[in-house]
Amino acid sequence: MPPTPVLQTPRLVLRPLRAKDAPVIQKRFANWEVVRWLDAKVPWPYPADGATGFAAAALAEMAKGEKSHWAIIPKKGPADLIGVISLRPDDGVTHDQGGFWLDPAFRGRGLMTEAADRVTEYAFGKLAWPCLWLSNAQDNHASRRIKEKQGARLVDMMIGQFVGGAATRMVWQLTREDWRARQPMPPRREAKASEPVHA
Ligand SMILES: CC(C)(COP(=O)(O)OP(=O)(O)OC[C@H]1O[C@@H](n2cnc3c(N)ncnc32)[C@H](O)[C@@H]1OP(=O)(O)O)[C@@H](O)C(=O)NCCC(=O)NCCS
Repeated sequence: MPPTPVLQTPRLVLRPLRAKDAPVIQKRFANWEVVRWLDAKVPWPYPADGATGFAAAALAEMAKGEKSHWAIIPKKGPADLIGVISLRPDDGVTHDQGGFWLDPAFRGRGLMTEAADRVTEYAFGKLAWPCLWLSNAQDNHASRRIKEKQGARLVDMMIGQFVGGAATRMVWQLTREDWRARQPMPPRREAKASEPVHA
């Protein structure tokens, strides 16, 4: 992947994760409501140096071009991150190219829908990927809803291992065509009075 760019949405700045984000990640991420439906590889109880290790690994992945990790910063504050969103190329095995979490205090306002839509546009536009594999626990209703709203198609169900235990995992595929079909058309430019009008 190319160097992780800064992306913007109406309410958010998505900027590449930094090592100094570790303390705020430790504060916001070490929460059962955040980790419950994440992959069982996430250690729980979350160790005191968990975020430091995560940030170091994330920076190494970005330096090698293996993944992108963005800190989610609301334009109206606070100044530090309120969540993280990540993207990686399809490895043909895990069938999961995304990942995101948000501090519970900022949920229910459409912020992750906004962040996920911007990262998806980056994947299909700038990176020109043809499709994205995505997944979530079946009972993770908010994450599932974001995929549904984007136009993803459910392609498989299996047992997954999550921090909260074994549960049904839904696997989705979102194609560039299905994604683009959901996007609003750019506004049509009105012809000026002086311009010839073609039938
Ligand atoms: C998943 C998560 C990032 C969603 O963040 P968010 O900013 O609150 O999401 P949004 O506000 O954009 O809402 C997304 C949709 O889910 C819906 N939703 C939210 N909570 C829901 C719930 N408990 N049940 C049903 N739908 C729910 C919202 O209404 C919205 O749909 P709508 O636009 O049709 O109304 C957040 O819940 C989170 O961090 N969860 C823990 C980490 C996690 O599970 N990550 C995903 C792993 S696959």
